[in-house]
Amino acid sequence: MTSAEFRQIFLDFFRSKGHEIIPSASLIPENDPTVLFTTAGMQPLVPYLSGALHPKGVRLADAQKCLRTDDIDEVGDNRHLTFFEMLGNWSLGDYFKREAIDWSFEFLTSSTWLNINPKRLYISVFKGERNTPRDDESIDIWQAQFEMKGIAAQVGERIFLYSKKENWWHGPTMKGLCGPDTEIFYKTDREHNQTYGVQCHPNCGCGRFVEIWNNVFIQFERKEENGPCIPLPLKNVDTGMGLERMVAVLNNVDTVFDIPEFRVILRGIEQACDKRYGEDTTDDRSFRIIADHTRAATFVIGDPHGVIPSNVGQGYIIRRLLRRAIREGRRLGIHEPFLAKLAAIIIGEYGVHYAELETHRQYIIDELKKEEMKFSQTLEKGIKEFKKMSSRGDITGEQAFVLFSTYGFPLELTQELITECGKTLDVNAFQKEFTKHQELSRSASAGMFKGGLADISPETTRLHTATHLLHKALKIVLGDHVQQKGSNITQERLRFDFSHPKKMTTEEIGYVEDIVNDAIQEDYPVHFEEMSLEDAKKICAIGYFEDKYAKLNGKIKVYIIGDDTRGIYSKEICGGPHVTHTGELGHFKILKEEAISAGIRRIKATVTGSCT
Ligand code: ALA
Repeated sequence: MTSAEFRQIFLDFFRSKGHEIIPSASLIPENDPTVLFTTAGMQPLVPYLSGALHPKGVRLADAQKCLRTDDIDEVGDNRHLTFFEMLGNWSLGDYFKREAIDWSFEFLTSSTWLNINPKRLYISVFKGERNTPRDDESIDIWQAQFEMKGIAAQVGERIFLYSKKENWWHGPTMKGLCGPDTEIFYKTDREHNQTYGVQCHPNCGCGRFVEIWNNVFIQFERKEENGPCIPLPLKNVDTGMGLERMVAVLNNVDTVFDIPEFRVILRGIEQACDKRYGEDTTDDRSFRIIADHTRAATFVIGDPHGVIPSNVGQGYIIRRLLRRAIREGRRLGIHEPFLAKLAAIIIGEYGVHYAELETHRQYIIDELKKEEMKFSQTLEKGIKEFKKMSSRGDITGEQAFVLFSTYGFPLELTQELITECGKTLDVNAFQKEFTKHQELSRSASAGMFKGGLADISPETTRLHTATHLLHKALKIVLGDHVQQKGSNITQERLRFDFSHPKKMTTEEIGYVEDIVNDAIQEDYPVHFEEMSLEDAKKICAIGYFEDKYAKLNGKIKVYIIGDDTRGIYSKEICGGPHVTHTGELGHFKILKEEAISAGIRRIKATVTGSCT
């Protein structure tokens, strides 16, 4: 069965249960600056799971494009992917545990649908912890379903109970929507690997049980990190099934790379080199990395909000994926450009369902060609540089880092070259430099997302500074609970999402506008200072990227508006850029104030004219 066929079967099933099929949202989150990519099917639906009305109703299903980068280094084994499709069905305050579980079971086991032997299925359920009770309701519903098939589903034998670590969904961040979940596992014929202990169970990790579907019962919302779980007015269902993994199960193959779509991509790689997939474990790893990374990059570049390789944010991730693919290609002996050809194959596989890939075909191909050419030139230059360095003696950690940062040489490649010429390397010194670099690039992307500044023109820079003035004014008028939740700036307007429990009154809106316009009239100077996060906290700088910045040891920028004589208006952690004087902003006006989800308001505002 192909992914395309299975995707259709899944959507058909939920259509037959009264669900509206919605298209996949963009891979680039529109209103969530806390993540670089869409990582789960529920992510674009958060506003609706929080109470906003969805135009398509209360029962939805889709195949959502997802990209997870946490396991990027694991790709190459038999199950990790960066890009994947997540199939899901949602109840927005409509059905709950009974229907969700009944339908999951029906879809998997009924002869009209997947016809999986129910004896292959194992279930995990939340076991209860501290103040949150065990999910007995789910246990009862599962037991009834299995009993109808003549299977006694005892706890500890077919149904396994786990703690929050396994059976509680937190959403992309610890804050936000949450609730217990129940996962469905498929038991393969693989042997239990004793290194994981004597007893095998769904979460044992030996690979015998494959998790195929997660049913989350979103019942609570956590307003702040580690805060209490507050019951939601409506109870929701959010499910997620990894499409590639499920297709592997249905085809009875061991790895996601053996599903038909990947086989076609792998054949494309074989055509570019003299090697065959399946003949050598180390080569297979390279094959898989190339297939996964090129597929991910094709989808990101071809997304309606597509991003191209660069040195910041999502672009940096894509560059990393492509450069790794090219390098693995070299390992397989590919010296000619091959990514564009591979992308054409990928578009052929997926373009029917994801029409954006067809629409952007030429663009994707051009971008891949450019990146491949750039990186090949860099590699050649790097090899020359390496020869120079090595002629002078051993390679130092700093030199290896220069090869990495300037010439794109991963440590592994440098090490290979070093071994070839019989020299040595101080790996620790390299790692030290490497960690420093990673922190800097992370703060660069955090900075970019903070302001949502896609292009940096005088208009967007002015609106960016206006956003700081607005943020502070909201705190003055509404209170210190106001937290930035998102920001997006175009040439015409700023958009600012923030936490506040109720609609702003006309007076409050007027008051905020007055404070911002007064600050503009004052023509305060704007400058930034670099400091540690600790010092930024000491001086009470505001900034909602705290958890990201908290991981950094390096310096961060704090933008300060105001001066010693007239007083400091605001201090905010931010990557910039900003105007040099607030007088450059002209007149500030709030165009709209509305709710985007429970407890989150959105303001659209603009600045007109200019005082300078
Ligand atoms: N949101 C749930 C997951 O991604 C379904 O596992």
